[in-house]
Amino acid sequence: MRHCVVLKGRGDFEEWRVAARALLLAGVEPQQVDWLMAGDEDGLFAATPTPPPDPLANAKPPHVPAEFVTLAEAVLCHAEPMRFGLLYRLLWRLSRDRNLLEIRSDADVVQARRWAQSVRREYHKMTAFVRFKEIPLPPGTAGRRRFIAWFEPDHFIIARVAPFFQRRFNDMDWLIATPKGSASWDGEQLLTTDGPADKPDLSDETDDLWRIYYASIFNPARLKVKMMMTEMPKKYWKNLPEAELIPGLIASAEARVIEMAERAPTLPPAFHHRLRVAELVEEPLAEAGSLDALRQQAARCTRCPIHCHATQTVFGEGPADARVMIVGEQPGDEEDLTGRPFVGPAGRLLNGVMANAGLDRQSIYLTNAVKHFKYQPRGKRRIHQRASSGEVEICRWWLAQEIALVKPRLIVAMGATALTSLTGERVALSDMRGEQAMADGTNLFVTVHPAYLLRLPDEAKRVEELGRFKADFRQIAASMAGRPSSA
Ligand code: URA
Repeated sequence: MRHCVVLKGRGDFEEWRVAARALLLAGVEPQQVDWLMAGDEDGLFAATPTPPPDPLANAKPPHVPAEFVTLAEAVLCHAEPMRFGLLYRLLWRLSRDRNLLEIRSDADVVQARRWAQSVRREYHKMTAFVRFKEIPLPPGTAGRRRFIAWFEPDHFIIARVAPFFQRRFNDMDWLIATPKGSASWDGEQLLTTDGPADKPDLSDETDDLWRIYYASIFNPARLKVKMMMTEMPKKYWKNLPEAELIPGLIASAEARVIEMAERAPTLPPAFHHRLRVAELVEEPLAEAGSLDALRQQAARCTRCPIHCHATQTVFGEGPADARVMIVGEQPGDEEDLTGRPFVGPAGRLLNGVMANAGLDRQSIYLTNAVKHFKYQPRGKRRIHQRASSGEVEICRWWLAQEIALVKPRLIVAMGATALTSLTGERVALSDMRGEQAMADGTNLFVTVHPAYLLRLPDEAKRVEELGRFKADFRQIAASMAGRPSSA
């Protein structure tokens, strides 16, 4: 007699286990079972009986190695309809040969391992390539931040991967919709559903941020096309806003490497430092009276050793009466070469986030806690080095003068160095994040540095941190406009 088992088949191990156990205890051989997915059972097999109620319900359940359970949990998420039958065959054979899984050349074992591997691989890709979009809360309401994402997995992995997203994005509400079921989290309940979801329209200006972000972290000198394609297979590209940049970045990589090599500065000979120190006369630090005069003074600054290797002083830029002043750490490679703050990768990300919040860069005064680029030469590259607390302390004089002249209503400290320079204290950034009044009546807004986001190796963490950074800038914009923030 043939038996027919109809399963929802969405990767639910429990559902399959109950059916497989009943069949095994009833002694039903694998070739006598048809495994169907709900919806496929009409037609040919409609009249086929399912296994009889289990007369041996209290019999001892078959004892299988733990490895089989782990394997079966993964294989059941695979999209291949034959997976149920394969697993039942393995279970049947395991009940006769407990060492079956150790036979690496066995065709059933090989197939099961291959499908499990494919599921695990997709699990990892999903943790990396889900792109959440924030759904703004209705104006005037407060509550947890809400996010939505769309993903198109090959396999039924949504329930398997949902706990990862719950752990990772615990403090926000989210929904991940896929054609193979959805998952949602509201701070209390993690729900998963089986039904296919419709693709929501998620395109917005965050897509531009991801493109800026990706272009910023892309290093043409390290390009390995084959590896890149393995890391980010083409099938995921259609839902990744940054993916449309990839062909262009690959095509221009060689030219960019040549251009970078040509642009790399020739390092000054060793005696250059001593010569310059001898040549340069310490300026008396009189108050300059105007930003232009201050800029000229700063161009000749030799108050700490960093200036010796830097190309030039990178002074602040922006309107002399700006209402917002943003303070970063110190110029980077591109800023050092061009003499302008925030024109490199961190600056491009900052521009995108400001634009996203409706802030016009031209109306903001941008500057740094330290005015020279401190770096360590490595071959042709110049590796950023954090300024020492002494160097930050010396450079504070310039920042204090800028603040006194510009008189901003709000000062934004991006990162720990800016915060130390502005407060004169070493305080934990996480304790001060957000807006507060300073003793002199100015408002201070503390956030992270965009370079911190560019360095995060973990995709999910980046989504979270980029979201927080964007929310900070929306709050800054709202505070300047005198309205409550929707962040
Ligand atoms: N990082 C900074 O802190 N400032 C810049 O100007 C550029 C990068």
